[in-house]
Amino acid sequence: MKLLVVGGGGREHAVIKKLKQNPEVTEIFALPGNGGISADASCINISAKDIPAIQAFAVENRIDYAVVTPDDPLVLGCVDALEAAGIPCFGPRADAAIIEGSKVFSKNLMKKYNIPTARFETFSSAEDALRYAEDAPLPMVIKADGLALGKGVIIADSREEARRAISDMMQFGKFGKSGEHVVIEEYLEGPEVSVLAFTDGKTLIPMVSSMDHKRALDGDEGLNTGGMGVVAPNPYYTKEIAERCMEEIFLPTIRAMNAEGRRFKGCLYFGLMITKNEPKVIEYNCRFGDPEAQVVLPLLESDLLTVMRAVTEEHLADTEVRFSDKHACCVILASKGYPEHYEKGFPLEIPESVQDKVYVAGAAVRDGRLVTNGGRVVGCTAIAETLSEAVRNAYKIADQVRFENKFCRRDIGAKAMAAKEA
Ligand code: AMP
Ligand code: GLY
Repeated sequence: MKLLVVGGGGREHAVIKKLKQNPEVTEIFALPGNGGISADASCINISAKDIPAIQAFAVENRIDYAVVTPDDPLVLGCVDALEAAGIPCFGPRADAAIIEGSKVFSKNLMKKYNIPTARFETFSSAEDALRYAEDAPLPMVIKADGLALGKGVIIADSREEARRAISDMMQFGKFGKSGEHVVIEEYLEGPEVSVLAFTDGKTLIPMVSSMDHKRALDGDEGLNTGGMGVVAPNPYYTKEIAERCMEEIFLPTIRAMNAEGRRFKGCLYFGLMITKNEPKVIEYNCRFGDPEAQVVLPLLESDLLTVMRAVTEEHLADTEVRFSDKHACCVILASKGYPEHYEKGFPLEIPESVQDKVYVAGAAVRDGRLVTNGGRVVGCTAIAETLSEAVRNAYKIADQVRFENKFCRRDIGAKAMAAKEA
């Protein structure tokens, strides 16, 4: 089978390494992939947002099955375009990907179908939003409606910050069209849990829960990033909470999307906050999380391609999806300065002995050598019987990967370990 994977980060590397385990797979193309992924797939220089070019490539190369993982192509209708060309795909169509593509849509969906989430108001005029922000309780959370590379959420502690965030989004076009509408919502407190789930629109099978570390620096200080590390499972996601999530959030979401005529098929990501023992939705993503995929997929014991095809063909109910009950930790190695300014182009050395545990996010091949080419450079994942051993081993792998200006958080998993002990 010839496969195509759209995207080119650590998440896509994790997906590709897992797909390769299926003996039927003869070739995998990554569009665009990256220098590190080229060890495992044929990387083709086509942007993940260039839907017509992706469609033409898939047809010309007689692709048997495609996996679309990043938010942009999903929201832009990449799955629709590939399906129209007769190519079966893993991933939601555009009409369902809107669950991530528009926060106004997802918040209204939750309100209409009584799915627990932070209280909110939506705005399409800056004047109305500014007026509302004068009286709303602080801190308040201001969110751009559309995709904004994870930067469209501002937690405003003061009225001044709230005013600035609203003006930046709605008057100065900081996030382009994504900021034309905003959601202002109540600030929630509690531990965050990420749960990814396979769903064919009828059956929903949650994957192992995980805990992302979004801030750049130790102790959850510094700027928000795409994610600096992740552990799985998440100790806050108890059996009791999991059962409540299934009944109050996961299944109602699938039913709501069906009722709206927007069947969701693919990986649905629930960003949850456990507030005073009550799980609430912080956000939906229409795809695997990154770096969450870099711990969850290595823990998957079933064949990924078989599960994905069952989603596409809508027979997930009779497909086994089994996860290991071990622990996983992924430490992200970034370029110093990320998520702001950083240098790239430094030689990147990944010793042979750790290559199967390293997912490459930002690298290029220059003059036959691997060099750094992004903010997040690699993810180092270890699996072990205990969380503390997984954390220790992930850092051992991280220490063996070499490049100039290498930077990582040193406390990935610390919060989870403290929660386990408490
Ligand atoms: P989002 O892109 O919606 O996931 O938001 C990014 C991050 O902002 C989340 O992971 C949370 O840490 C934080 N956040 C979002 N909404 C809220 C909220 N209502 N209360 C507190 N924190 C929030
Ligand atoms: N790690 C968060 C995300 O993928 O959106």
